Amino acid sequence: MSSYVVVGASRGLGFEYLKQLSENPENVVVGLVRNVQATKEKVAAEINRPNVHIFYTDLNDYKTLPGAVEETSKVSGGKLDVLIANAAVGGDHFDQTLSQLGSDPGKLEKDLTDCFRLNAVAQAHAVNAFMPLVLLGKAKKVIMMTTGMADVDLVRKYDIWMAVGYCASKAALNMIIAKFSAEYREKGVLFLGISPGVVDTSATDTDGSKDPTNPALSALGAKLLEYEPGWKGAITTEESIKKVLSVTEKASVEDGNAGDFLSHFGNKKWV
Ligand SMILES: NC(=O)c1ccc[n+]([C@@H]2O[C@H](COP(=O)([O-])OP(=O)(O)OC[C@H]3O[C@@H](n4cnc5c(N)ncnc54)[C@H](OP(=O)(O)O)[C@@H]3O)[C@@H](O)[C@H]2O)c1
Repeated sequence: MSSYVVVGASRGLGFEYLKQLSENPENVVVGLVRNVQATKEKVAAEINRPNVHIFYTDLNDYKTLPGAVEETSKVSGGKLDVLIANAAVGGDHFDQTLSQLGSDPGKLEKDLTDCFRLNAVAQAHAVNAFMPLVLLGKAKKVIMMTTGMADVDLVRKYDIWMAVGYCASKAALNMIIAKFSAEYREKGVLFLGISPGVVDTSATDTDGSKDPTNPALSALGAKLLEYEPGWKGAITTEESIKKVLSVTEKASVEDGNAGDFLSHFGNKKWV
């Protein structure tokens, strides 16, 4: 039996984690969400397994974390094998460059601050809150969802100008992952940042198929095609999480993955 906490499990990849991890009835799978009632109803309708538990957390308020840790501890036997930090925000200005954002300094400040607060700072709070349980767990893994768009070389080589706040905050998250790893590797805890590929969720439309009139989305799709001419567009949540789980299940401190930043292919190929 393994225990998992998925932070930000109401929809998209987080919900798919709940589905796939609960397939093994021995697993205890906890989803942390802002909208408990709606998520419970969705779980009942689409998963309906007794090993899925939904508790409240709003990452905008770190004071909600101790309650979630307490609830988790009750169903997981006072320990946790794998923490999955999945929640994120994309910012409101995907289609603006830094200088366009800067034409209204307040807008630039808000976009960057909103993204950093949730995608970097709140993630650190969530990890700190759950660490006592993780240290008592067997697997001792902290998996943090990041993005290939936070790969500076990718941005540099293909001039990926869009999604400034999102990319910069995920790059900060990558450093937070490395810093946590530096602190906990000797205690046997694996911290791993993983990019799930471009996945068809509410957060993405990068192949432009849903909104072909959005030039920034089409531009990103074109850049990704230049990066990988064989790219076929967004994959499903099911395919993404299957690949992600296969990478994260194999990854270990012993094999040199501590603090690493990998794709769903287990390497640095992002799509
Ligand atoms: N989809 C992709 O192609 C892609 C690519 C690269 C990386 N990723 C990463 O993969 C992860 C999941 O992405 P996704 O596409 O599934 O995103 P999504 O569909 O936008 O879902 C985001 C999740 O985060 C939760 N969340 C946001 N703010 C929260 C808060 N304050 N407290 C608690 N939960 C909060 C949302 O809950 P609510 O329902 O309450 O808003 C939702 O469950 C993210 O970290 C994302 O950056 C995704």
